[in-house]
Amino acid sequence: MNSVGAAVLAESRFRLLGKSSAICEVRERIRKLARSEAPVAIVGESGSGKELAARDLHAHSARASHPFVAVNCGAIPEALMESEFFGHRRGAFTGAHEDRGGFFQAAHRGTLFLDEIAELSLPMQVKLLRAIQEHRVRRLGAQSEDAVDVRVISATNQNLSAAVQSGQFRQDLYYRLQVIELRMPALRERREDIPLLCEAILARLFNGERRPELSQAALVRLCEHDFPGNVRELENILERAVALVSHSLIEEKDLYFELPGTQAQTVQAPPDPCGLGAATPALLQAFSLPEHLANVERELVTRALKQGHFNRRRVAALLGISLRQLRYRMQRLAIHDLD
Ligand SMILES: Nc1ncnc2c1ncn2[C@@H]1O[C@H](COP(=O)(O)OP(=O)(O)O)[C@@H](O)[C@H]1O
Ligand SMILES: [Mg+2]
Repeated sequence: MNSVGAAVLAESRFRLLGKSSAICEVRERIRKLARSEAPVAIVGESGSGKELAARDLHAHSARASHPFVAVNCGAIPEALMESEFFGHRRGAFTGAHEDRGGFFQAAHRGTLFLDEIAELSLPMQVKLLRAIQEHRVRRLGAQSEDAVDVRVISATNQNLSAAVQSGQFRQDLYYRLQVIELRMPALRERREDIPLLCEAILARLFNGERRPELSQAALVRLCEHDFPGNVRELENILERAVALVSHSLIEEKDLYFELPGTQAQTVQAPPDPCGLGAATPALLQAFSLPEHLANVERELVTRALKQGHFNRRRVAALLGISLRQLRYRMQRLAIHDLD
C-alpha cells in the first residue's frame, strides 16, 4: 500500500488529509470538540479546509446520523435571507406556493454550518442570534414557532473581531459564535503535506485508473509555491494539468500558477471584452446575448481576481461592485476560487 493509502486508512473517518504536525493537531482538536455541543468558529484562508473541518467535526459528533447543512451566507440575496434561514408558510409572499422549512429546520438535530458569516447583514445577525439563543424559529407568515435543535459551526476568512470593532458585526453574536475557535493552517504553513495531497488529488481524479505521475521537478515547484488559494488552488492546478497533458508524466511546464479558466477564457472571449469587433469565431457563431455577456463577465471577473491577488475586497473594488455581488457573480459563473 502506498503512503497515501496508509494515511487514509489510519484516519479513515477524517477527510482532512496530511501528516504535518499542524494538521494532526487540527484533527486532534476536532476529535475533542466533537464531544462538546459548544459553537465552534473556524478561521483560516480560503481553500484551507474550513468546510471539510466542519464536516469532520459533525461526522465525529453524536449528531453524525442527522443532517449537516452548509450555508454560504455571502451568496443569499438579502430579500430571501429570512425565508431561506427560517422557512415560510404558503402565501407568505408572492411565489410562496407551499409551506417550506428553512436551513434551521433542515438541520434539526444535526449541524448548521454557516460559512462566510461576516457577510450577514446587521438585521439578519439579530434574527440569527435570537434563533440560536431561543432554539426556536418562526417561519415567515407563521403564527407559531418551530423548535429547532442545531449545533452551529461558523466560518470566515475575515477578521471578525475587527468587524465588531468597526460596527459591521454584532458583538453579542460574535461572543455567541466564537466560543471556541479552530484555526486552519494555510497550505504554505504545512508544505510537507503537499506531496501527499498531490497523490490523493490525482488518485481522486483518476478513481482507480492508471494515473499520471508528477515529475520530481514539478513536485519541487509545487512544494515551493505559496498557494494563496490553499488546497483548492492545488486541486485546480492539478486538475488543469491532467486535462492538458496527453502523456503519463506531469512536468513543471504543465503546471499553470494562475486562476483556472483565465487561459481558456482569453481564447474564447475577445481581448477587449466589451468590443464586439474583437469577438472570436466561437463568439460570432453564438449570437446568444446572455452567453456572450456571461463570457465577458467571466473574463472580467477572472482578470480582476488575478490583479487583486485573491483579495476579495480589492477585487470587488476593482470591478466596482459590492462584495456580495462579487460572490453572487462568482457562484453564478461557477468561478470557485474564493468561496
Ligand atoms: N487537509 C485536506 N485534505 C484533503 N483535502 C482538503 C484538505 N483541505 C482542503 N481540502 C480540499 O480543498 C478544497 C477546499 O476546501 P474547503 O473546506 O472548501 O476550504 P474553505 O472552506 O476553507 O474554503 C476542497 O475540495 C477540500 O476537499
Ligand atoms: Mg469554504
